[in-house]
Amino acid sequence: MPEPLVRFQPQGRKVSSKKGRTLLDLASEAGLNIESICGGAGRCGKCKVIVRSGIGSVTPANHLEKSTLDSLELASGARLACQATVCGAGHIVVEVPQESQRGHHRRLAAGTERKVALDPAVRKFVLKLPPATLKDLRADDDRLIEFLSRKAKWPVRISEGVHRHLPGALRKQDWTATVTLFRNQEVIRIDPGDTSAELFGVAVDIGTTKVVAYLVDLTSGAALGSESMPNPQIPFGEDVIARITYTSKNQDGLEKLQTAIASGINNLMLKLCEANDLTPDDLLETMVVGNTAMHHIFFGIPPQHLAAAPYAPAVRTSLCVNPSHVRLNMYPSGKVSSLPNIAGFVGADAVADLVASGLYDDRKIGMMIDIGTNTEIIAGSRDRLIACSCASGPAFEGAHIKFGMRAATGAIERVWIDPESHLVRLRTVDDAPPRGICGSGIVDAVAELFKTGLVDPSGRLKSVDGSSRVRKGKKGLPEFVLAKGSESSTGEDITITQHDIQEIQLAKAAIFTGVSILMRRLRLRASQIDRVYAAGAFGTYVDAASAIAIGMYPDVPVDRISFIGNAAGSGARMCLRSTKMRDLADKLSKKVEYIELAAEKDFQSEFAQAMFLPHRDISRFPGAASRVQRSS
Ligand code: FES
Repeated sequence: MPEPLVRFQPQGRKVSSKKGRTLLDLASEAGLNIESICGGAGRCGKCKVIVRSGIGSVTPANHLEKSTLDSLELASGARLACQATVCGAGHIVVEVPQESQRGHHRRLAAGTERKVALDPAVRKFVLKLPPATLKDLRADDDRLIEFLSRKAKWPVRISEGVHRHLPGALRKQDWTATVTLFRNQEVIRIDPGDTSAELFGVAVDIGTTKVVAYLVDLTSGAALGSESMPNPQIPFGEDVIARITYTSKNQDGLEKLQTAIASGINNLMLKLCEANDLTPDDLLETMVVGNTAMHHIFFGIPPQHLAAAPYAPAVRTSLCVNPSHVRLNMYPSGKVSSLPNIAGFVGADAVADLVASGLYDDRKIGMMIDIGTNTEIIAGSRDRLIACSCASGPAFEGAHIKFGMRAATGAIERVWIDPESHLVRLRTVDDAPPRGICGSGIVDAVAELFKTGLVDPSGRLKSVDGSSRVRKGKKGLPEFVLAKGSESSTGEDITITQHDIQEIQLAKAAIFTGVSILMRRLRLRASQIDRVYAAGAFGTYVDAASAIAIGMYPDVPVDRISFIGNAAGSGARMCLRSTKMRDLADKLSKKVEYIELAAEKDFQSEFAQAMFLPHRDISRFPGAASRVQRSS
């Protein structure tokens, strides 16, 4: 029987398939990028395709598709590409609508980086050893160790796996060889001749939703490139709690999640190598950061105890293992290291944020907010630092938002609404016709709707006489038309629904609850905060005035907010380049005090207050309203 053949339209790309593969997989194999915010979990509805013929060779719609697509869509062949699976022979023609095609993504902000003196943990040394003779019968390992220990003035050992390369490497170029030492104590590689000009490492930031890898030249400290992808664990659960639950409910759950993240990182490393004429064997150290759950899962450490009181992590200290231990494809005797965690979900990524922001060394009070599906907040100064983490969810990534999308071509990223006429002005990524709305756009939209009075402090979208843009949506709930079908690239109206506003309220309330509890613990008023460091891709692009207007950031003057980009990635790169920074990270992880928000007695009431726009019922706190006006 011939293999099933799938043709994707309008691109005309064909791919033959084995049964059991999803249309999303096949599209990717055909070189097409289909939007998949939830990573193929069947939850975001962004991977919609239309099966134009051969529907009999595709599995029937499952419950996830039935709950995401309406009956009319299903009747016309619409399917979720991540769920629809090839199950029969024959030709299948699949149309990929424009709104499901992933455009060019806005480049990830590289992150502010402070200069560090180059002092990596992996270093190369070229040596010329005295050759073996009949008068010098020492074995190769003794010869090498004695030479190195004499130079280093402390004992040096040879890592397992390196011995097999010793005799060849030493003799190939007349006893001139290059050794790679880890922390000046362990030989992790030996090559014939002088290879000291080639020394590479990778820094990886494992976010709950996105994974980013950076290639670093460790002879110069230069960053050579970065690659990113959605976290491949998303199909197992959107947030850290769902993934932890998966590991405790499934015997092989932890292994599956570990394998998924390892193969994702391997893909990123391979892309970085290919772009720089390297092979994975050229990578000698990988420095990994992530929140505590991402960290534990990557290292194969059971994360269950993080999800239940008293929320103690299994490991706080920094780790260093061999690549095979975590299934990474790099030089086999290389090292995979992590920064230390702090406590609860505040992990190595927050330590990296601290290192990158310099907050730990400042006399003035600052607050670092790294917004992601899990948001970390650290406040204080060089005298005292307090941290917490909050479950802000993936709404800022566009998930659970009707027209939400990542910051790719055509995503609405800025919104202005005229207070009188309610006319809307938009800015989109790449100035393309609007296709959907990304996180910074939706925060802007909610802030503008609130400031124009179209949304009240409780988040209710009001229908205002004369505003033709507020209308009833499909389920009878109000929605605001941001872009009419005649302006959008899909021909469809792009709207902000009542449900979207509520999703943003939940996300921002989670963050503001953390902000206000930290401020109370430090006995701080917003006016005393000298600097707010907004970290993460979303934090970098969101408009600070809009974030203050909806009550996501503390009420500080806008010019006190600094955008530091992907600070976790920056901190990881800094620590890859410098052992001094690693030692500092170890000290900081012990120094930062941790607050478990769930254990705070006021948590529920703070959260309920924070649901309001900006962050409490302003009819009861009239002073807040004037602050919103000032900050906007
Ligand atoms: S990727 Fe298919 S529903 Fe999200």
